[in-house]
Amino acid sequence: MSGGNTDSSAADRFDTTVAHPARRYNYWLGGKDHFAADRASGDAIEAALPSIRLMAVENRLFLGRAVEFLAKQGVRQFLDIGTGIPAPGNTHEVAQGIEPATRTVYVDNDPIVLTHSRALITSAPEGAIAYLDADLRSPEDILVHPDLHATLDFSQPIALLLVAVLHFIRDDEDPQGIIDKLVGALPSGSYVVASHATWEYQSPEAIAELTANNRDGRFVPRTGTRLGELLHDLEFVEPGLVSVSRWRPEGAPQPRPSIEDVSCNGVVARVP
Ligand SMILES: C[S@@+](CC[C@H](N)C(=O)[O-])C[C@H]1O[C@@H](n2cnc3c(N)ncnc32)[C@H](O)[C@@H]1O
Repeated sequence: MSGGNTDSSAADRFDTTVAHPARRYNYWLGGKDHFAADRASGDAIEAALPSIRLMAVENRLFLGRAVEFLAKQGVRQFLDIGTGIPAPGNTHEVAQGIEPATRTVYVDNDPIVLTHSRALITSAPEGAIAYLDADLRSPEDILVHPDLHATLDFSQPIALLLVAVLHFIRDDEDPQGIIDKLVGALPSGSYVVASHATWEYQSPEAIAELTANNRDGRFVPRTGTRLGELLHDLEFVEPGLVSVSRWRPEGAPQPRPSIEDVSCNGVVARVP
């Protein structure tokens, strides 16, 4: 969930000697789809933030609880940008577990994510899934993609998932403009699910070490306040913008970890 490089030149995209966020996240989650560079980067970040694996797990659990909550509210369409390598509790699995006719579009800019997703993910016959090789930094390309419109009906509510991906968008890449374009395309009654790493609870020493590990500046932690500003004009669902570990934690493993160890905020918000 932190550091690394998401530049999308063809060479870099297939370069397994460069750590990639999806593979490093898979390493922290205990998956099998990572290379030496991902493990080295993951270990270096873990040395500065020993709870990083817990953070990854808690983020993943938040995603599952948020999708389940929305599916139970009757949301039947999900647009999951920054999908990650398939792992237990994928968006469509959670949602189709409640309503098999749910339709999901997955978007990622890491070719390994898409290869694994196409190989491993299948929809319930009543529903549908599409996978887009696209970049969150080009929301226009996502929004005009024919496979998006072949799968989702933009006259009906859609849940837009931006889970553990916004912190890979630098300030100079206009995260506000990106969010506004995507949210602006959603019909009223849609939802946004977002989570975002923060260093606001870390010591100056830990932040200095984490910053040293982020030489290319690709990773941008933001405070909960800043995440709230980016999601302006949306109606936050109870309990609002909180640590992902504290978002509707009923049913989550107990005891709940500390906000400091999790260092990731999350929110579900309704489009008015
Ligand atoms: C930490 S993983 C999160 C996966 C999943 N959303 C979750 O929370 O379990 C971040 C994902 O975002 C993807 N990603 C990073 N930058 C991206 C971008 N600019 N456009 C699309 N996907 C991106 C990475 O490839 C990776 O799969």
